[in-house]
Amino acid sequence: MTGSKNTKPFLKWAGGKTQLIVEIEKSLPNIGHSHFTYIEPFVGSGAVLFWMLNNFPNLKKVVINDINQDLINTYKTIASNPNELISILEILQSEYHDLDGNDEKKKQYYYDKRTLYNTRKEERTSHSALFIFLNRTCFNGLYRVNRKNEFNVPMGSYKKPTICDTENLLAVSEALQKVEILCGDFEQTLSYADEKSLFYFDPPYKPLSETSSFNSYAKDEFNDDEQIRLRDFCNRLDALNHTWILSNSDVKGKNAEDNFFDDLYAEFSIQRVNAKRSINANHKKRGKLTELLITNQVNI
Ligand SMILES: C[S@@+](CC[C@H](N)C(=O)[O-])C[C@H]1O[C@@H](n2cnc3c(N)ncnc32)[C@H](O)[C@@H]1O
Repeated sequence: MTGSKNTKPFLKWAGGKTQLIVEIEKSLPNIGHSHFTYIEPFVGSGAVLFWMLNNFPNLKKVVINDINQDLINTYKTIASNPNELISILEILQSEYHDLDGNDEKKKQYYYDKRTLYNTRKEERTSHSALFIFLNRTCFNGLYRVNRKNEFNVPMGSYKKPTICDTENLLAVSEALQKVEILCGDFEQTLSYADEKSLFYFDPPYKPLSETSSFNSYAKDEFNDDEQIRLRDFCNRLDALNHTWILSNSDVKGKNAEDNFFDDLYAEFSIQRVNAKRSINANHKKRGKLTELLITNQVNI
C-alpha cells in the first residue's frame, strides 16, 4: 500500500470526526516509527481510520469493527468487489438524477429502494449499493433503524447528490486491502491487538438531553451501562499497556453538575475540545459545543 492516495469516508455518518482529527493528532503518542497496530472498534464512516491510513502508510496492522452488519458488509464489498459495486451505483445515480424536477417520481424511487433494502434479500454487492444510495439521498445522511432493523429515514432534499464517487471508492478499496474488517461488539477487538496497540474509540455519544438523542445507529441502544462497560474495557487495555484515545459528548458543558465522564475516567487525561456537530435537525442548535477527548497517555 502506498498510502499516498487521499482516501476519505465514502459515507456521511452521524458523529463524523473530521473536525476532531486535529485534536486527536495532538494526543497521539510518540509514534515516530509509525509501525504499530491501529484498532478502531466503533468505525462508523471511518473518518479517523482514513486519516490514519493516509498519514501512517507504514502501519503494521489495522483492524476495524462495528456492530452494524450492513455497514460492515459495505466495507467488505468495497474491499473485495469495487468494480461491480461502482457499476450498480452508476446506474442508481443516473436513474435518480434523471428524475430531478419530478418530485413525485423521485420520491417514489427513493421509497422503493428503501423497501428493497429492508427486505435484505439482495445479494451482497447490490445490498451495499443500496446502503450507499440511501446514505447519499436520505435526510442528512442519517442511519436510523426501528426495532425490526428496518431503515426508516425519510428522503433528503438534495437535487443531484453524488451517489457514485468512483475515484474515492477505488482508493478506499485499495486502502482497505491491509485492513481486517470485523462485525460485532467492540470487546471482540482485544483479541486482535498486538503488543502496544493504539485504539481509537468513537462510541455512540451519550445524549446531551432526551430529545437530542442521536445514538440509535443500531437496533440496540448504547445506554449508560454500555458507557460503563466501555470504561471497564479501557481499564483492561490500560493494564495491558495499550494506548487508547476516546471521544464522547461533554455532558458537563450542558449541565455543570453532570460529572458522569469526569467520574468514570477520573484516572485518565480528560481534555475538552471545541467541535462542530453537523447532524442536528434544528439549525439553531448547531453551533459551538465542546466534546471530550480522553486518553490513557499522560503526555497529552
Ligand atoms: C459515533 S458512531 C462512529 C462515528 C465514526 N467514528 C465516524 O467518524 O463517522 C458510533 C458507531 O458505533 C457503532 N456501535 C454501536 N454499538 C456498538 C457496539 N456495542 N460495538 C461496536 N460498535 C457499536 C454504531 O453502529 C456506530 O457506527
